Amino acid sequence: MQVKNQKIVVLGTGGTIAGESISASEGLSYKAAQRGIEVLLQSVAEIGQGLPETLASFQFESEQVAQLDSKDMDFATWHHLAQRCQAWLSHEDVKAVVITHGTDTLEETAYFLSQVIVANKPVVLTCAMRPANFKDADGPQNLRDALTVASVAQGAGVWMVAAGEIHHSQHVQKVHPTRINAFDSGEAGVAGTIKADQVTWRLDFKAVPKPSALTHLDLAEVTAWPWVEVIMNHVQAEAKLVDMLVKAGVQGIVVAGTGNGSVGIALKAGLMRAQAAGIQVCLASRCNQGPVVVTETHAFPVLAGLSPVKTRVALMLDILSKQQSH
Ligand code: SIN
Repeated sequence: MQVKNQKIVVLGTGGTIAGESISASEGLSYKAAQRGIEVLLQSVAEIGQGLPETLASFQFESEQVAQLDSKDMDFATWHHLAQRCQAWLSHEDVKAVVITHGTDTLEETAYFLSQVIVANKPVVLTCAMRPANFKDADGPQNLRDALTVASVAQGAGVWMVAAGEIHHSQHVQKVHPTRINAFDSGEAGVAGTIKADQVTWRLDFKAVPKPSALTHLDLAEVTAWPWVEVIMNHVQAEAKLVDMLVKAGVQGIVVAGTGNGSVGIALKAGLMRAQAAGIQVCLASRCNQGPVVVTETHAFPVLAGLSPVKTRVALMLDILSKQQSH
């Protein structure tokens, strides 16, 4: 049952959803992060016949938290965004937070938020693959769908809504540079779908809980974010890059191994040296689907079947929470 006068808060961060191109027929060459969140919200009511029924009883608040192309997303903006989510979600009358975001690093932000927000309410990210003034802009429908999902989602969780699909932050990945349905959740599949304002959750979808150690992480106390790099195993992979990183003061390395997390002899030797020197090394797979299945041949820990970029986020948060517990 819905409590009266509940709010959905919409936070704008930029991206193509807020982008503008030179003309309504130009969908791929444009400038991201041009329109404010108020304008994007207005566009939702302009498609279809007003707001969907599920949204009619909600009030909406919006806030421009950032205005950037998500290729330039940074830790300061993450910190601010997490704080704004946390602050809004702590209001009793706020049902959920929706975030508009660029597609390019959305999966990293979604995973980051899923690990740091402490609230028993949902956060829903959305985006677009075509700029706001394009004749077939996908942003207004995606935002409408995200608001609808936010109005019905229950409990904690960070979700992503685009192209009629609901994805979980743990699994979602951008898999295509230009297609309208550019996101995929690999073997986990979508968590649900939304068609004609109707949300259907997949009954067998299981969300993964966040590690309990992280509940102690206090972002307000973070003054410097750890330096963690992602490197890849490939033909003739050398240890030179690892040695240079260690010398330069890297604090963590994620290696995107080939196949089931295999790493060539030279690179592995370099990573073992780094590990012995106290650098945290984690393993993921450069394959874009399926988790690494750990065997006794793996020399480095694997974090919950995450992609390399999400493993990087998890490793940064792990380093931070260890620093805070000392
Ligand atoms: C961005 O990630 O901000 C630009 C690309 C996009 O949103 O599709």
